Formats: sequence, C-alpha cells, structure tokens
Amino acid sequence: MKSKIIEFENFNIKTADKVFSPREDVEIFPKAIKDIIKNKNHIIELGTGTGAISISIAKSFNNVEILATDINPSALEIATLNAKLNDVSHLIKFKKSNWFKDIKNKKFDFILSNPPYLSKYNSFHYKDLSDPNSSLYSQENGLYDIYKIIKSGIKYLNDNSYMVIEHSHNQTLYLKDFAKANGLQFIKSEKDNFGFNRVSVFSNRV
Ligand SMILES: C[S@@+](CC[C@H](N)C(=O)[O-])C[C@H]1O[C@@H](n2cnc3c(N)ncnc32)[C@H](O)[C@@H]1O
Repeated sequence: MKSKIIEFENFNIKTADKVFSPREDVEIFPKAIKDIIKNKNHIIELGTGTGAISISIAKSFNNVEILATDINPSALEIATLNAKLNDVSHLIKFKKSNWFKDIKNKKFDFILSNPPYLSKYNSFHYKDLSDPNSSLYSQENGLYDIYKIIKSGIKYLNDNSYMVIEHSHNQTLYLKDFAKANGLQFIKSEKDNFGFNRVSVFSNRV
C-alpha cells in the first residue's frame, strides 16, 4: 500500500503501510469532549495509529497535553511525522505501550481510545478492509480490549475525569453495564454520520 493523504476538516493525515487508516469517526472525539474540557487537560490516547485522534484534539483545543501510545512501532513513526506536519508536536508526546502496561505513576483527565473492536465471527463482512488485523479485531465479540482499557484505566483517572471510547453501535449496552459495574457513570454516546452510536463517554465524577 502506498502512503495516502486523508483529509479532515482542520487537518490532513499521512497513512502508512501496516498502520490503521483513520476514518471520519476521528472527528467525533473533539465533539465528544468540547462541553467537558477542563482549564488544563492531561490526556492519554491508547492505540493512536497515525495519530489522527490526538492531532484532531490538539487542533481543536490548545489547553491540552497529550500522551499518544501504540503497541505498533510503525504507527508511532507515522504519528510522530503527522504531528510535525500539523504543527502540534509541542502538544503531543508519543510512547510505545501495550495499553497501560508502560504507563507508570501518571493520571489523566481524559483517556481516549479507538481500540480494535470488531468480532472475528463477523470478519467476512470486513474482508475488503486492508488495515492490519491487530488494529481491527478483538476477542469476546470485539469487547476484550475495550473491557481491558476500562478496567485498567480507572486507576489512571484524576478525580472528575473521563474515558472516551469508540465502539460499534451494538456494543453500547454492554459497555454501559461494564462501566457501571466498574464504578463509572455513563455520560453520553455520540453518533456517527450514519446515526449510530460510535463514541461513548464515561466518568468517575461524583
Ligand atoms: C482501530 S485502530 C485506531 C487507530 C487510530 N486511533 C484511529 O482512530 O485512526 C486501533 C489501534 O490500536 C493499536 N493497538 C492494538 N492493540 C494494542 C495494544 N495491546 N496496546 C496498544 N495499542 C494497541 C493498533 O496498533 C491500532 O493502531
């Protein structure tokens, strides 16, 4: 696959081989947090791919400090380049990590993620996708990585803070139940261009 340019409303992204190509859902993230953004915001993005979500946040708000992570070194390479091309390198640091494994002694106001959430059982629906399988599929009907992020992310949240997770629309109820069982309250779901729930926001606020 040759590198392509993907255009969003406020910025462009370069794609790379072996890295998930960002979809228009990226732009749901700034929309999801615009009413709950704080004066100063420490943000972590898990599974940044080309960096598109972190860059969209950095382009939308200047009171942010973002740590963008991925397990895939090719993703971190292209994401670092994309941050430079978009003049937001001063707002985003990149780090290799298997979800929270290498994130020590830090707390955040926002945990953002578009993790792999498709089920292998439905993979015939997605046979034309050229993204790496490790960016697309997750066990337990696509919920394994989301559950892992929610469960381990709780101790990485500052007080009155938020998790913002992309998922498929038919996972909404499972996520609400799982988050509730882990002490997080459901705040809202944002819809994609087709009118389906795509990004949900949870909080430890009281
Ligand atoms: C669906 S892609 C999303 C990429 C990007 N955030 C976007 O929306 O365009 C999922 C990303 O999660 C990363 N990933 C998968 N498993 C991971 C893990 N265990 N730890 C960290 N990142 C992981 C993949 O490498 C991929 O970049």
